[in-house]
Amino acid sequence: MISIQFDEQTQTFHLSNQQVSYLFSIEEGQVLSHLYYGKKITHYHGNFRYPRLDRSFSPNLPGAIDRSYSLDTVLQEYPGFGGGDFRTPAHEIRQSDGTIVTNFTFKEYRVIEGKPSLTGLPATYVNATTDAQTLLVTLEDRFRGLELELSYTIFDDSPVIARNTRLVNKGKEKVVIEKLASLAIDFPATAFDLIHLNGTWAKERMVTREPLNTGIKVLDSKRGSSSHQQNPFVALASPTTTEETGEVYGFCLVYSGNHETMIEKDPYDQTRVTMGINSFDFRWVLEPEDSFQSPEVILNYSDQGLNELSHSYHELFNHRLVRGQHQQKERPVLINNWEATYFDFDEDKLLAIVDEAQKIGIELFVLDDGWFGKRESDNSSLGDWFENAGKIKMGLANLSKEVHARGLEFGIWFEPEMISEDSDLYRAHPDWALQIPGRGKSLGRSQYVLDFSRADVRGHIYQQMKAFFDEVPVDYVKWDMNRNMTEVYSKNRSAEEQGSTAHRYMLGLYEFMEQLTSEYPAILFESCSGGGGRFDAGMLHYMPQTWTSDNTDAVARLKIQYGTSLVYPISTMGSHVSAIPNHQTSRKTSLAMRGNVAMSGVFGYELDLSTLSEEDKAEMKEQVAFYKAHRSLLQYGTFTRLLSPFEGNETAWIFVSDDKKEAMVFYYRVLVEASRPLESLKLRGLDAEKVYQMNEQLFGGDELMNLGFYIDPTLSGDYASQMFYLKEVAE
Ligand code: GLA
Repeated sequence: MISIQFDEQTQTFHLSNQQVSYLFSIEEGQVLSHLYYGKKITHYHGNFRYPRLDRSFSPNLPGAIDRSYSLDTVLQEYPGFGGGDFRTPAHEIRQSDGTIVTNFTFKEYRVIEGKPSLTGLPATYVNATTDAQTLLVTLEDRFRGLELELSYTIFDDSPVIARNTRLVNKGKEKVVIEKLASLAIDFPATAFDLIHLNGTWAKERMVTREPLNTGIKVLDSKRGSSSHQQNPFVALASPTTTEETGEVYGFCLVYSGNHETMIEKDPYDQTRVTMGINSFDFRWVLEPEDSFQSPEVILNYSDQGLNELSHSYHELFNHRLVRGQHQQKERPVLINNWEATYFDFDEDKLLAIVDEAQKIGIELFVLDDGWFGKRESDNSSLGDWFENAGKIKMGLANLSKEVHARGLEFGIWFEPEMISEDSDLYRAHPDWALQIPGRGKSLGRSQYVLDFSRADVRGHIYQQMKAFFDEVPVDYVKWDMNRNMTEVYSKNRSAEEQGSTAHRYMLGLYEFMEQLTSEYPAILFESCSGGGGRFDAGMLHYMPQTWTSDNTDAVARLKIQYGTSLVYPISTMGSHVSAIPNHQTSRKTSLAMRGNVAMSGVFGYELDLSTLSEEDKAEMKEQVAFYKAHRSLLQYGTFTRLLSPFEGNETAWIFVSDDKKEAMVFYYRVLVEASRPLESLKLRGLDAEKVYQMNEQLFGGDELMNLGFYIDPTLSGDYASQMFYLKEVAE
């Protein structure tokens, strides 16, 4: 059902599948003009065109006498600057004459079955060439001999279009890329709300929704990572769009470094979006014959609200972004010792936790920070990835054996991209940290960032990790990254090339992770950056899970997980029950509430099991058994948001199995209220024709979706939660 057609007569490209159409045309024999992206059009006749109109102060194409066509106003696919378009350009390519003026015109196109991979970068993929088609359109700037290759992939069963851009220098002189967006798209005059995910440490991916007004809005990260502060995702929704109804466009960048999304609403109410690597402080020297590849953006469309947009992102990421042995596999229930012990542990303490974990049914023990070098606090030893011999007397290989002997898997924490000033590595190679010769270096958590743009630096860390894995049986790795980049400069690179260092770092990191995950395919990797500071689609291509946030407070997690779920699947969200009072907020919530929040993710615990009451442990044992029994539904079922924590006191969501035969509903209420109104909770995504059993009672699917059901009106106390399991029954 996928089709990519070019109509010679109307000069129109039409990408379509069962769900969507994406249309653009070649205007004036040269300009790529955007026409449409949205619900599938079956009978396009080529007559929908941008109107011709002479607008004052809008220049015309070079050499043209027709005053009714100007780049300043038409809708485009990949606009430049300096030829009459005064809006935000998709690219800025500095040339030998000092200008960034270009004139890219259509040259040729090709259609490829399947989807080519992106050299050195994470991207979505297909397993069979019949799963997708890719349109490659080449534009050329004849004056400079530059070629732009715009890539559009349409998948067979998804509303998504994956786009990326490649610049090839076929000229005789080098150019300097100052901006090369992964995509640009122009929407015709429409009112939009802008939705984005921002935050900070322990408060990641807060949902912000604001009306889009005239002017330019920039959402970016200059931190050297995708960041806690601004996730590389935005959505443009119609102002009336809700979770369940209305149109919305999503943009998700598959990249983990500095990113930039510019949204410009022009005086004619048209909206342009460019998204890609941050152009701020970016310089890439492109020599003749060389090419530069942008990361991918996953463009998404829904006419049934935000939930539907999330469903297609989740589906795509689970099937066509995450890779390896753990893809679509049920993930183990883990216990992590970080909040239980911090740096203060020995083998007795750890094994006491493991013993309890075994009784509870936990499947994986993760030894967090503090096992290496001379690390007793966060002031030292990053870069010294050998055992802290004084700490685990039996040695880590034996500890791993002991853990395995108790029937659990063994996992371990690394922070490979970092170096402590107080480390053997720093004493031997002080120049390996990112720094500007002669200038002071800014510490963050008492550590520096290693220059991962350098192959020698990466190679050394790789060898240390390899030596460790070859010695100690490891089933899981938590890959952390606990500060952002400052004084970005790489030693052996010319001044002109320094603006490429942050991106070269990411390319180095991706190469490293590609090699490591290929060499150790059985290890389950979970990425982390002070919690969810690098929760992005780029990392998920190598590591199928991410630690969602260092904030483990159940109430705070409602918003964090709700926001994260806008884009990222539940199977990717690490989510743990921790002790009370909570270490980040001091809040005390019930074990049931903590369990019900953590079970709505990849479940685990992060507390000292050896100090808990028998009663708590018995409850945990039940939680683990329950989670295991329903794990495939909770990790891979269709997740739909029902009540938003950003809008009120209550939160609810539902997981429905693919065959719609079972479902799990979670309801949470933060604060109790006297004499409260009683509203029914309406479910989504069930089969209207099926009959479901819930708490010994029968309900029709249509009944639960249209009438809903009442939450127990006597449910009392703050931080209350309830869980409902629905199973189809024959009447
Ligand atoms: C980061 C992580 C935590 C923990 C610590 C260890 O903050 O997010 O989960 O691993 O580092 O130092």
